[in-house]
Amino acid sequence: MRMVDVISKKRDGKELTTEEIQFVVDGYTAGKIPDYQVSALAMAIFFQDMTDRERADLTMAMVNSGETIDLSAIEGIKVDKHSTGGVGDTTTLVLAPLVAALDVPVAKMSGRGLGHTGGTIDKLEAIEGFHVEITKEQFIDLVNRDKVAVIGQSGNLTPADKKLYALRDVTGTVNSIPLIASSIMSKKIAAGADAIVLDVKTGAGAFMKTDKDAENLAHAMVRIGNNVGRQTMAVISDMSQPLGFAIGNALEVQEAIDTLKGEGPEDLTELVLILGSQMVVLAKKAKDLDEARAMLKEVMANGKALAKFKDFLNNQGGDGSIVDDPSKLPQAKFKIDVPAKESGVVSEIVADEIGIAAMLLGAGRATKEDEIDLAVGIMLRKKVGDKVEAGEPLVTIYANKEDVKAVEAKIYENIRVSDKAVAPKLIHTIITE
Ligand code: URA
Ligand code: CA
Repeated sequence: MRMVDVISKKRDGKELTTEEIQFVVDGYTAGKIPDYQVSALAMAIFFQDMTDRERADLTMAMVNSGETIDLSAIEGIKVDKHSTGGVGDTTTLVLAPLVAALDVPVAKMSGRGLGHTGGTIDKLEAIEGFHVEITKEQFIDLVNRDKVAVIGQSGNLTPADKKLYALRDVTGTVNSIPLIASSIMSKKIAAGADAIVLDVKTGAGAFMKTDKDAENLAHAMVRIGNNVGRQTMAVISDMSQPLGFAIGNALEVQEAIDTLKGEGPEDLTELVLILGSQMVVLAKKAKDLDEARAMLKEVMANGKALAKFKDFLNNQGGDGSIVDDPSKLPQAKFKIDVPAKESGVVSEIVADEIGIAAMLLGAGRATKEDEIDLAVGIMLRKKVGDKVEAGEPLVTIYANKEDVKAVEAKIYENIRVSDKAVAPKLIHTIITE
């Protein structure tokens, strides 16, 4: 087989065979096919697309390019949740202990944040002593015993995706639905998921800025999952404004604790119930979504979800007592209110820009090497659709430096107040095929 023939075939809009896709992925991973030929193929795919069969083959070839995590020693159906990334997206911190409280096994591999989106591991590391550097054996034992554990990303998962993603980044081929969908799904499948719940964000703070793009990506991922034997569904949810009130690591841990008690922000609570119900049903712990939702609300109300969070933190070296006394979380030196300049209704809170404002305070990384400050961040005091009086705080800045002028300016630029506005719809669509 010759790479040039594979490139020409795709350039001409023809369907590649399973063997051809395997040849490309194996050859590229092994360093036998050069970057320039794979770039040409990625560009041909960008323009000519891939069929469902090609997408499934590409995904599985990338899964098999490296190590895969075998979760078969864990009893039950392992349901993973994946979010395409947002601002102040505290859902994983809440969902993991919440569904585990209903005996749904949560064996989660998570990453750190980059840019305006935060990473689950960073948030968890706001808890003194908590660590994700555990062995695979410890990971599996913890999930079998207590139903929830989080491990850091293994370096050897889907090497083909790592190489291809880096190449796409510099060749104008990131924004291709078949390439994005296979990239994301290969990582979930390699991490051992039996079933997958996708939270595809749409809006300013999301990777997909419009509903149409988000839906296309969701359909592509759901089809790949189902075609390779992993039951998959997607929820398209709003990321035009940040989720919940808290943006920043320790602040989001506090928000997760509130939500696990049933006292969290309305939007975060609703999204967690929607995604959680899907997970509980896929894990066959409830007969339908209504039953699952009632079960989730019950463990929020009776304290079981919060107790599960505490056990989970203690199991991985963390100080579980922060659940009862959140003042033990890292605290920022300065709390600075940013008052509204005029009265009206909040009409826009541009999610990605507010995420960048939090990053400027030190809550996120601009480059992979940056250190983050776990205590700092932004608490929204108003959400889109809320009334505000001039002088009332729009947000509170949690900072470890006194001069936050640049952050304040960014907030004024990106939180708009007008005469009238309505809250954006949180759940846009549910996609199952
Ligand atoms: N995220 C991924 O993991 N892969 C892509 O291709 C795009 C976003
Ligand atoms: Ca939040």
